Amino acid sequence: MLQRADHIASQRSVDRGGPHLVVEGLAKRFGGFTAVDRVDLEIGLGEFVTLLGDSGCGKTTLLRMIAGFAAPDGGRILRHGEDVTYLAPAARRMGFVFQSYALFPTKTAEQNIAFAPRMAGRPRGEIRKRVRELAEMVEIDRLLDRYPHEMSGGQQQRVALARALAAEPQILLLDEPMSALDARIRAKLRAELRGLVDRLGITTLYVTHDQEEALAMSDRVAVMRAGRIEQIGTPNEIYHRPVSRFVADFIGVSNILNGTAAMGGFAVNNALWDFALPDGIAEGETLTVMIRPEHMLPCGFDDPGAVCGTVEAVTFLGSTLRVLINCPDNLKLIAEQPSTSAWAGLQRHAAIAVKPDLAQLVLLDRPIS
Ligand SMILES: Nc1ncnc2c1ncn2[C@@H]1O[C@H](COP(=O)(O)OP(=O)(O)OP(=O)(O)O)[C@@H](O)[C@H]1O
Ligand SMILES: [Mg+2]
Repeated sequence: MLQRADHIASQRSVDRGGPHLVVEGLAKRFGGFTAVDRVDLEIGLGEFVTLLGDSGCGKTTLLRMIAGFAAPDGGRILRHGEDVTYLAPAARRMGFVFQSYALFPTKTAEQNIAFAPRMAGRPRGEIRKRVRELAEMVEIDRLLDRYPHEMSGGQQQRVALARALAAEPQILLLDEPMSALDARIRAKLRAELRGLVDRLGITTLYVTHDQEEALAMSDRVAVMRAGRIEQIGTPNEIYHRPVSRFVADFIGVSNILNGTAAMGGFAVNNALWDFALPDGIAEGETLTVMIRPEHMLPCGFDDPGAVCGTVEAVTFLGSTLRVLINCPDNLKLIAEQPSTSAWAGLQRHAAIAVKPDLAQLVLLDRPIS
């Protein structure tokens, strides 16, 4: 496996930047229902990309088409420029970990991991060595004689991962591999998995509906909605520069405000926020903007851009305090500041004024020019 890692690492430097996996206009319908709607996606060699979206948005269907378990109704799949759309799953050299880990129940952990190399007719000694290496890597080397029902969910998960890696895939497709695990094990496995695929130089497409997991693990996140990719970007871009209300709502906590375009900025709730509006927006036009709670800052009641209100609730979150503020016209704002800040003694019903860090204001749902 280590040899392979070196090989991939050198490959990475050779075709740096060229996409390893390309999905073009991929579509899947079930009867009259479109589950995947002309999806385009490019993943670089060794890159870790996550598909994030609600239940039923088409994540598994997209992954199954890439792996070759479902035939697309349109579009194509390229691996290093080669069209693999109609290749059999085994010929695609992609590893797949299913949403339910789907180990063979009548085989031990060792037999499960050895399955692919055995099918490929590898020599016994080599198989034994590879199983041992992989088992050590995912820390189940003392459980190799156990059957799936004799292992915990987390242990089965590791076996499933080792089984997928045993086929030496160039591309790893993981469908919610942590969904059955508790939060503590998930966080641990998350870091281990990312470290492992990085070490082996494997290109990874990971599916989750857990936004925290997506932001923590990925080079890039693709937010899916009703069969389409609504936005793809680095975790930073997705969090700080969402393109739509959907993405802003889906990722983290946000203030989403409706207001109007005015001379000098954005008018909301008796305040004017000095904000450079893009070309083509007319005065009086209704706009939607987003600002994260940590960018709503304490200010004086008379400060330019101040929005005044009363404290409805203060929630202690450890490093920060989250304050829910009732403002006139039924506007509710969420602001978050360090728990050691001046807001530490804030009481319910207290009068409060906040203003946004204007550089962090994001205009939503505008066509990209
Ligand atoms: N074989 C099938 N026949 C009919 N409809 C299907 C089939 N497989 C999936 N669907 C539908 O396609 C849509 C997408 O399903 P998919 O399993 O891809 O969702 P998902 O994003 O993986 O959801 P989850 O997060 O719940 O796993 C759903 O509405 C689902 O009901
Ligand atoms: Mg699914």
